[in-house]
Amino acid sequence: MAKQNEKTGSSIADAKGKLGIMIPGMGAVGTTFVAGVESVRKGISKPIGSLTQMGTIRLGKRTEGRSPKIKDFVPLAQLKDLVFTGWDIFEDNMYESALNAGVLDKSHLDQIKPFLQGIKPRPAVFDRHYVKKLDGKHVKKGKNKMDLAEQLRDDIKDFKKTSGADRLAMIWCGSTEIFLKQTEVHSTVKSFEKGLEKNDENIAPSMIYAYAALSEGVPFANGAPNLTVDIPAMHELSRRNHAPISGKDFKSGQTLLKTVLAPGLKARMLGLNGWFSTNILGNRDGEVLDDPDSFKTKEESKLSVLEHILQPELYPDLYKDFYHKVRINYYPPRADNKESWDNIDIVGWLGYPMQIKINFLCRDSILAAPIVLDLVLLMDLAKRSTELSGLGIQEWLSLYFKSPMTAPGLYPEHDLFIQTMKMKNTLRHLRGEELITHLGLEYYD
Ligand SMILES: NC(=O)c1ccc[n+]([C@@H]2O[C@H](COP(=O)([O-])OP(=O)(O)OC[C@H]3O[C@@H](n4cnc5c(N)ncnc54)[C@H](O)[C@@H]3O)[C@@H](O)[C@H]2O)c1
Repeated sequence: MAKQNEKTGSSIADAKGKLGIMIPGMGAVGTTFVAGVESVRKGISKPIGSLTQMGTIRLGKRTEGRSPKIKDFVPLAQLKDLVFTGWDIFEDNMYESALNAGVLDKSHLDQIKPFLQGIKPRPAVFDRHYVKKLDGKHVKKGKNKMDLAEQLRDDIKDFKKTSGADRLAMIWCGSTEIFLKQTEVHSTVKSFEKGLEKNDENIAPSMIYAYAALSEGVPFANGAPNLTVDIPAMHELSRRNHAPISGKDFKSGQTLLKTVLAPGLKARMLGLNGWFSTNILGNRDGEVLDDPDSFKTKEESKLSVLEHILQPELYPDLYKDFYHKVRINYYPPRADNKESWDNIDIVGWLGYPMQIKINFLCRDSILAAPIVLDLVLLMDLAKRSTELSGLGIQEWLSLYFKSPMTAPGLYPEHDLFIQTMKMKNTLRHLRGEELITHLGLEYYD
């Protein structure tokens, strides 16, 4: 039975049957996500880092003691009902690709080996012009980009049929493409389709996947900083076909901490002179980002957060002209175990300078995998919600992204705490619960 909200008249259809997850890019993040889901299903591991699996949501007053798990509060697909497919330019199955990525131990992967070996990539839509550092043979051929989009649509239909999935969701875990700007071809669905026919070079492979998914009514989330669905043509298609979109670029490590710390500095009116962030990373993502054109896409995404959080136009004495630099250096010995350093020059009472140093020894894909899980489950929820499915951009999921997509003209909200409140209030709203404002005066009446 669909869950009806009596206040708004909206409803959420039940999560019946299987949910098919489609992953363009079966590399470090994609395989760590899928292997993780199977590991949790087998009782080998816990889904640490996943808000949908471990998080709770407070309902009503602090005195009511109502804090169900999110997954019990809204009808999400269950892990047992997830089935997977993907595309890659390399032929490796998910077991081989996961071994290659070197994120999870071999002994861990061997416990779920047959399952991972069973997931083989479909041939990719790929063009080296957009990812200069990679070259693979497992790619589709077509007479133009529209033909390639049709082939992807056939893949989607085939997966639905062969897997028995009732619903689908696509999430881009592929490489970071070269920096692209919005142009005329991106302005409407019509111009975009013309561009596909004419092989317009402003249409990157990630856009062809997104176009195929949205044309099939399938939600699409973008884990890379690529332009992909952040163009009017995709907004239009998403709304028209009730296929939700979200992006861009998983907020996993250094930027996550930045969006935790910067709101704290601002909350106490501490000033900022400069924030220098550097990283060493040795996985394939690091290699791709070694190309200046791909790095530019990532850099734009990583740089945007501080401006929006600190609002220098409102606080010129504190934040005018702060210096912000982000570097990523490819360093193979470190593989997926990225190390980042942040040097933050802050300013206190009477202008006296102070410094904060952060040295984060993280594991990139270990941080990204639970984001992928939450996103596919919540995008599927959005698709089943009569209130959310036709909105296009799902801004309430911005807590998962470095450069959250917003309606045209709106600045993105980057503060993790505001983003989390927004997400939980959206869930409360969907289920007809009171929104929580944290006012709390009534406790003192
Ligand atoms: N913490 C994180 O790991 C993190 C955070 C934010 C964003 N991201 C982004 O997520 C993406 C994946 O990261 P990763 O570490 O898994 O990288 P990866 O290099 O291990 O995996 C990407 C895979 O995509 C494949 N690919 C590239 N173009 C393709 C195409 N057109 N079609 C199909 N497959 C294609 C590559 O062959 C590769 O196997 C990157 O864009 C990265 O910038 C990762």
